Amino acid sequence: MGEVAEIRLGDKTIELPVVVGSEGEHAIDISKLRAQTGYITLDPGYANSGSCESAITFINGEEGILRYRGIPIEQLADKASFLEVAYLLIYGTLPKREELEGFTESIRRHTMLHVDFTKVFTALPKDAHPMAACSATVGAMATFYPDSLDPRDPSQVEVSIHRLIAKLPTLAARAYKHSVGQPSMYPKNELNYVGNFLHMMFGNPCEEYEVDAVISKALDLLFILHADHEQNCSTSTMRLVGSSMVNLFGAVSAAINALWGPLHGGANQAVIEMLAEIRDEGMTGRQFVERAKTKDDTSRLMGFGHRVYKNFDPRAKIIKKACFDVLNQLGVHSQMLEIAVELEEIALKDEYFVERKLYPNVDFYSGVIYNAIGTPSNMFTALFAIGRLPGWIAQWRELHQDPTFKIGRPRQVYTGPTETSFVPIDKR
Ligand code: SDX
Repeated sequence: MGEVAEIRLGDKTIELPVVVGSEGEHAIDISKLRAQTGYITLDPGYANSGSCESAITFINGEEGILRYRGIPIEQLADKASFLEVAYLLIYGTLPKREELEGFTESIRRHTMLHVDFTKVFTALPKDAHPMAACSATVGAMATFYPDSLDPRDPSQVEVSIHRLIAKLPTLAARAYKHSVGQPSMYPKNELNYVGNFLHMMFGNPCEEYEVDAVISKALDLLFILHADHEQNCSTSTMRLVGSSMVNLFGAVSAAINALWGPLHGGANQAVIEMLAEIRDEGMTGRQFVERAKTKDDTSRLMGFGHRVYKNFDPRAKIIKKACFDVLNQLGVHSQMLEIAVELEEIALKDEYFVERKLYPNVDFYSGVIYNAIGTPSNMFTALFAIGRLPGWIAQWRELHQDPTFKIGRPRQVYTGPTETSFVPIDKR
């Protein structure tokens, strides 16, 4: 018998088993708590509650460690491609050469959209936010592919996975083109995954679009860094919605909406808007940091802080270095980058941020690169979604392969009125 946790409630003491993960994380298994005691636990925001056991991504927030299937993010950022990482996350191992070639070729063959998606986009207002367009059109994929909706049929799941990874960039680029009133671009099969996305985003039918190798490599790196992050808000959404046995498209559409929130993936757009506000209002970094500390001011230092990382987010370190490399290679000067660096230097020495262990997260610098390559800020979170999609899929597959699978249905502690009676309207 392994370690147990004793809980004493009144004159009753029960023992609950302790689960130990492969990296030594300890958890008290409370799955029998209510049956044995009538009690439940309460943990708003789930800061202390594990929803699952997972073998996909490991984070050590105190030490700033991030690994996909055991491989440190620094090595993947340095040596892998995004589709290679997507394969690793989804299928559990790095692909052999022929496996990667087959995966890449299949994705390439699914990038084009059904022609009726034109009607879907036409129905959207011109200024529709790309995240609303992406969640709507990904959800609509369930109507275009009624033959591949069964989450327990391996062949239907496989084709849905390839369709989603292939088509999300096409849908996101289509949303952007719709918002700027330009004709949408068909994917070009001779281009690689990221090059094709750039072509669909920034190309036009009147001239050949030349993919910039520096930009393409930077975007591939950013997609890798965003690919998974264990049980974050949008991934937990993917799992909870997926646990109802809805099809994969429906679960991804829900996850896209969760990611859109400014406290989550939407922070990358909020960061660049914050940097622009500081620049345009001629504020100093110190002035803004002071504002971010005041409780009555809604302007947090966006891109700072994290529920799990109480040390540097390793992704932020890699992206910050990439910012300098990419801007130097492009010969672009970015005042936004200068402001971001100043804010970081001030915050990291400020007692308010130090005592709360608030460090730059993945969103703090990513927008500087997106901005430098010409991406409009309302597209930043759509780029995050393209990167995060393999992680969502991997976690959803793991959920369905879990022998302990059951629909997610949290409990509550009721604090409303005790029993009362209906009052007829003329007596209220
Ligand atoms: C992502 O979970 C993931 O893994 C997410 C993600 C992923 O890859 O999926 O890493 C991606 O979502 C990164 C986070 C992006 N969001 C932002 O950058 C928004 C700004 N950050 C915060 O809103 C906040 O830090 C959160 C939401 C990220 C974390 O919030 P927590 O863990 O619930 O912490 P909290 O809000 O309770 O804050 C603790 C204290 C509070 O002050 P006190 O009440 O103790 O006085 O720190 C303060 C907060 O006011 N605080 C901040 C702050 N973040 C926290 N104060 C100023 N600026 C900030 N950014």
